[in-house]
Amino acid sequence: MERFFGRVAVVTGSSSGIGKEIVKEMVKRGLTVAGLARNLSNQQKLATEILTDPKTFPGKFHPIKCDVMQEQDIKDAFESIRTNIGEIAILVNNAGVLGPYKELTELDNNTFQEIFDTNVKGSWLCVKEALQSMNHLPIVGHIININSIASLHDYQAESFSLYAASKDALRTISRSLRRQILQNKQNIKVTVKKNGFNEPM
Ligand SMILES: NC(=O)c1ccc[n+]([C@@H]2O[C@H](COP(=O)([O-])OP(=O)(O)OC[C@H]3O[C@@H](n4cnc5c(N)ncnc54)[C@H](OP(=O)(O)O)[C@@H]3O)[C@@H](O)[C@H]2O)c1
Repeated sequence: MERFFGRVAVVTGSSSGIGKEIVKEMVKRGLTVAGLARNLSNQQKLATEILTDPKTFPGKFHPIKCDVMQEQDIKDAFESIRTNIGEIAILVNNAGVLGPYKELTELDNNTFQEIFDTNVKGSWLCVKEALQSMNHLPIVGHIININSIASLHDYQAESFSLYAASKDALRTISRSLRRQILQNKQNIKVTVKKNGFNEPM
């Protein structure tokens, strides 16, 4: 992480849970982090916590309101980051939704759309935006897609079947992305994470 000191990272889903903790760990290590989430007031609370303790948090945090289901929100957020904060060295695609605990055939269209638009399409769009920025960097960039063990297990009927399918899709996209980057000889690393472990792709 030392090589990223002072560099810019983007973390989606930074208003709570794992995303919020990732932001804190990065800012502790001197990174400048742009957080993307819909809940701006939660992000502003985090920004205040960071600002009031500069000894613990030597880096910076910029909260940005962004719904990753909306392509224009993503485009606007990344344009603003590149213009006002700097080129992006790390992207953490963490924003994710589980959906309700119901049988597969009880789930409706809206749930399908929300899960896939957030977990898959949103992550893919953020990758496209971040790659444009990473290509301008003199260092190796890093894209981290947060997965779940749900994508590796057969779950019982009343469970998170669509969520698991979306995380499977994210893993496949990560694999394709890694192949594309290798083929194009780009200086970018792709990692898929599940519950703290690097996942085989
Ligand atoms: N917790 C676990 O045990 C676990 C296990 C395996 C994998 N994961 C994965 O880890 C990631 C984080 O999970 P978590 O437990 O920390 O969840 P969480 O506490 O529910 O947080 C989810 C985050 O995603 C954001 N988000 C959701 N929809 C969004 C949207 N349309 N646009 C922008 N941001 C959106 C939320 O922000 P807003 O609502 O403010 O937009 C929130 O900050 C997810 O990808 C999840 O699948 C979690």
